[in-house]
Amino acid sequence: MNHAAGAGLLNPNAQLKVGNDTIFAWWARYQDAVKQGADAVNGTIGALLEDDGTLAINKVVDQAVRTAPPVEIAAYAPLKGLPAYLDLAKTLALGDHRTSLEAYGFSMTATATPGGSGALFLAAANFANPGEKVLLRDRHWGPYKGFLSGCGLEPEVYALLPENNDSLHPFVDIEDFRKKLGTMCSKQDKVMIWLNDPAHNPTGLSLTPNGRSALLEAVMESASSNENVGHTLLLDSAYHLYADEPHGWGQTILDSVEAGWPWPENLLITFALSLSKSHTIYGLRTGALVSLHPDEEVTERIGTVMGVTGRQTWSAAPRVAQFTVSEMHASIEGGKAWGLERDRLQALLVSRRSRLIEACERLNVPLNPTHDGFFAWLEHDEPQRIAEACAEQNVFLVPLTGGVRIGLCAIPLEHITRVAEALAVALT
Ligand SMILES: Cc1ncc(COP(=O)(O)O)c(C=O)c1O
Repeated sequence: MNHAAGAGLLNPNAQLKVGNDTIFAWWARYQDAVKQGADAVNGTIGALLEDDGTLAINKVVDQAVRTAPPVEIAAYAPLKGLPAYLDLAKTLALGDHRTSLEAYGFSMTATATPGGSGALFLAAANFANPGEKVLLRDRHWGPYKGFLSGCGLEPEVYALLPENNDSLHPFVDIEDFRKKLGTMCSKQDKVMIWLNDPAHNPTGLSLTPNGRSALLEAVMESASSNENVGHTLLLDSAYHLYADEPHGWGQTILDSVEAGWPWPENLLITFALSLSKSHTIYGLRTGALVSLHPDEEVTERIGTVMGVTGRQTWSAAPRVAQFTVSEMHASIEGGKAWGLERDRLQALLVSRRSRLIEACERLNVPLNPTHDGFFAWLEHDEPQRIAEACAEQNVFLVPLTGGVRIGLCAIPLEHITRVAEALAVALT
């Protein structure tokens, strides 16, 4: 494609937008292989598929959407979201810890957004100064860069894993994190951190309680010793309801409060919630930004800012899933029935992941630590070469910066061993 075409019509930022999309390109290669009659394995896409290759759908949500009254489908939602949905969003972000945190005086605000992507956009548009940096792990979801650059921001990164894992700070390079945060604080009067945890895309990594606590402590210390620097810790909860500890962050925040850590007023925690995966309504574009702070005036102001930003960007988020999902969770039976379906879908991921870990161990494939969610990851300096070598064996994975993403969400259980075998051959 000629990227210079239209240069006279497109502004400089628009001209930087080149069709990414490695993931779709590799998915197309998988589809071509199938068309040519190959017994191919699809580890490319980021949607949960049943073992027969069809899209996995939470039947309880599907049923609830289908029986929504016409007016709940047709009407606009209020600009910030339906009140019942905003209330539910806080509970989905924090679980049972929500009430304990409220009892400790925390105030919360939620804004309905078109998916988790909308929540990420709201944060990028409002919590950082244009021209400055946002702190990410060096392995992260590709579109983060686009959300940031669209708002004039740049990524700064710290290492995903420490060189030597230790039991106090497992799965987080806390030294590198502190170092990068410290440098940012010396140059910016606002710092924002985006952390996709638990069930990280693209690795499937989840922090342990110690890892979460070390990270929160580092952010709180940084905020306390840099009083004039606003700190926002954004927890990207795109997959959390499929994790072993879905509300681990709520627990960690509560633990810090119960331990008497003083909450710096220049610290905000915000959750970018997505119902796309947890409720299998990817296309209904429903999520929320849920922010938490001890001062109600702060959360109220944030609620206004986010509502206005949404209004100026997409108007209101779609109504129908806000209505159906909040009605469904409002009844004990509805919440239970959803949970049973969620458990069934989670079990698909657990069995695929366990089988992959076991096969990789057996075949000496150095798979990264992986715990929850849709993906697993092989760190490698030559991801393209590894993915090509797998493709020669009709196993289609996605080469990304620093490694190869294995879409467990798409791979039928019976194909998992072939993935480990293909990686083992590719690595020789
Ligand atoms: C890490 C991560 N964050 C956020 C999202 C946003 O999801 P959506 O906008 O579809 O709700 C995704 C979707 O793939 C994701 O992988």
